[in-house]
Amino acid sequence: MQMNNLPDNPYLLLTPGPLSTTKTVKAVMLRDWCTWDDDYHEVVQGIRAKLVGLATWREGYTAVLMQGSGTFAVESCIGAAVPEDGKLLVLANGAYGDRIARIAEYLRIPVAVNDSGEVRPPDLDALAKILKEDPQITHVAVVHCETTTGMLNPVKEIGRVVKSLGRVYIVDAMSSFGGIPMDMADLGADFLISSANKCIQGVPGFGFVLARREEIEKTKGRARSLSLDLYDQWELMERGRGKWRFTSPTHVVRAFAQALQELDEEGAVEARYRRYRENHRTLVEGMRNLGFVCLLPDEYQSPIITSFLSPNHREYNFRRFYGELKTRGFVIYPGKVTSADTFRIGNIGDITPADMRRLLTAVKASMFWR
Ligand SMILES: Cc1ncc(COP(=O)(O)O)c(C=O)c1O
Repeated sequence: MQMNNLPDNPYLLLTPGPLSTTKTVKAVMLRDWCTWDDDYHEVVQGIRAKLVGLATWREGYTAVLMQGSGTFAVESCIGAAVPEDGKLLVLANGAYGDRIARIAEYLRIPVAVNDSGEVRPPDLDALAKILKEDPQITHVAVVHCETTTGMLNPVKEIGRVVKSLGRVYIVDAMSSFGGIPMDMADLGADFLISSANKCIQGVPGFGFVLARREEIEKTKGRARSLSLDLYDQWELMERGRGKWRFTSPTHVVRAFAQALQELDEEGAVEARYRRYRENHRTLVEGMRNLGFVCLLPDEYQSPIITSFLSPNHREYNFRRFYGELKTRGFVIYPGKVTSADTFRIGNIGDITPADMRRLLTAVKASMFWR
């Protein structure tokens, strides 16, 4: 592939996704790819096997890829996992937890929500009490990195309570899988969901569900949607050895295979985690030196995305700050919490600590309100 002919991006994406990708990942998409024969199916099977290997070293787990953005994968998982006579408990502390509950409501799945508030992790004692008092609850769902704030939820401790009380455990690890070491068997997770354009650094177009084989086998006939039928998609990928139902996002899939190879070349998830942590440390230290304040206490903060309180200044407005930074080569994100005025800066993707230092210089130059 001729990398030199590809244009440089005019800005870095410091967002929760889509995010900055390498030229080599983008370059894979500069041609057409066929789908019917073994060449393509082998790529898909390779991706599925690799994802299972990233999720756990234990036996009995499988992967299914699903067209669409991350929400489609979440919806396909919730819609298939919870049976007609089941009930879902969602531990929420942000927009993505709330979205899981909304999905359940749309699909007419009985759902209870335990909301710990945007800046607090779920309460484990409350969780145990709810599960003991409500035998109707069959499934518990939680978001690992709640991208709304950047909060990292204690999925392992939650898993211990959920499994000790005999429930099925669903983890939305959309913005953390591949960037933070985890083993879904250790977490007790029966289903774990993520997408192509987060920490694995592919481009948007499909999500994936990692599942305990025993649990996904139970989901036959449960789906509330034809196109999002997780079991049918999985069953065909198994039987057809890499075949998708309906048109598959070939370019995105090929780019994702390249992104997985680059994850290995970087030194796997451990090395990526180290880079993200260093990005994050550089960012937060520099922003604090410029007078910015983080929304979350450090103990809850993920190395993925950080919410900063908006400057308490009459002349500050996000749109102008965003524009100033964009002209200097960086795209940040508005806040998503309801309880405080914030903005967010992500540090995942093809981003290095040197990029973070350049960003800090750009932030300083963009502080028009001082
Ligand atoms: C934790 C989490 N869950 C779900 C989603 C939804 O993904 P998408 O916007 O790709 O539908 C996101 C997106 O950032 C997320 O961070």
